[in-house]
Amino acid sequence: MRPTVAVLGTGIMGTGMARSLLRAALPVVVWNRNPARSRPLAEAGAVVAGSVAAAVADADVVITSLLDVDAVVQTVRPALGQFSDSAVWVQTSTVGTAGTERLADLAREAGVAFVDAPVLGTKAPAENGSLVVLASGDPALRASTAETFEAIGAKTLWVSAVPGDASRLKLVLNAWVGTLIGGIAQSVAMAEGLGLDPRLFLDAIAGQAVDSRYAQAKGRMMIDRDFTSAFRLGGLLKDTGLIVDALREAGTDPALAAAVRDRLDAAAARGHADDDIAAVIASYRD
Ligand SMILES: NC(=O)c1ccc[n+]([C@@H]2O[C@H](COP(=O)([O-])OP(=O)(O)OC[C@H]3O[C@@H](n4cnc5c(N)ncnc54)[C@H](OP(=O)(O)O)[C@@H]3O)[C@@H](O)[C@H]2O)c1
Repeated sequence: MRPTVAVLGTGIMGTGMARSLLRAALPVVVWNRNPARSRPLAEAGAVVAGSVAAAVADADVVITSLLDVDAVVQTVRPALGQFSDSAVWVQTSTVGTAGTERLADLAREAGVAFVDAPVLGTKAPAENGSLVVLASGDPALRASTAETFEAIGAKTLWVSAVPGDASRLKLVLNAWVGTLIGGIAQSVAMAEGLGLDPRLFLDAIAGQAVDSRYAQAKGRMMIDRDFTSAFRLGGLLKDTGLIVDALREAGTDPALAAAVRDRLDAAAARGHADDDIAAVIASYRD
C-alpha cells in the first residue's frame, strides 16, 4: 500500500513537496499554522487537517518543513504521542547540527523513528520533484521512506546512519550558496558602481569555467531588481548563523560566511527579509 504522507508546514518548500507527492499519487495530509496557506493544496487533492495531531494520526511518513528548530519543536512536540507506531518523522527543515540533535532526542524519547533529511533545491525543484534529499538515520528506515523521497527528489544521498550528518552536509552546501549569492551581488554592484552595464559581467562569464546557471539566474534578478521569492533572504540569514557556528565547531575560519551573513543582515534591515536572496544586492547598492 502507498504510504500516507503528512506535511507539516506549507510554506514555499512544504507546498512544493506536497504537490510532488500528490503528483506521485500518494495520499497527502497537510497542516499549516496559518490555514489559508494550505487551501490551494486542498484544490490539488490534499486533505487539510485542522490540527497537527489530526494530520499525523494516520500518516506513515510525517514531513516537517518549518522555518527553524523552535518552530519544529513547537509544532511536533505536542503531537508526538499521536504518531502511529510505524510512522517515520522525516525532518527536512534546515535546523543545523545542534537543532537536529535536539529534534532527534525528542523523537527518541517519544519512540518515534527519525530521519534527518534536509533538502537541496528551492521552489521549482520542490514543485517538480527534483530536489536532492540528503538523508541520515537508521538504514532500516530506507525502505519505508523510499517512495516519499522518490516523489520529492531527483536523488537521495544517504549520508550516514547518524542523524545530524545530513544536516552537516546541508550546511556545507548552503555555505556554498551563500558564497555564490554574495559573490554575484558584489560583482553586479561593482559593475553598476563603476558605470558599466552589469549584463556585461554575465555575458563575459557565459559558458566559461567560471560561469554557473546560478550566477546567470540570480544575476539577472539582481540587475532587474526582481526579488520574487524562491528562497527567502531571511531563511538564508538564519542558515548563515548556523553555518558560522558550524565553521567554528569545525575549527575552520568563518570570516567569509560571516561577511555574507552581515550583507544578508543589512539587506534584511532594509526590509528585504521576505524577498528572494537576490535582494542581498540591496546591501551593496540601493
Ligand atoms: N526556500 C528554499 O529555497 C529552501 C531550500 C531548502 C531548505 N529550506 C528550508 O526549509 C524550511 C522551510 O522553508 P520555506 O522556504 O518553505 O519557508 P517559508 O515559505 O518561509 O515557510 C515557513 C513555514 O514555517 C512555518 N512557521 C514559521 N514559524 C512557525 C512557528 N513558530 N510554528 C509553526 N509554524 C511556523 C510557516 O507557517 P506560517 O505560514 O503560518 O507562517 C511556514 O509554513 C526552512 O527551514 C528553510 O531553511 C528552504
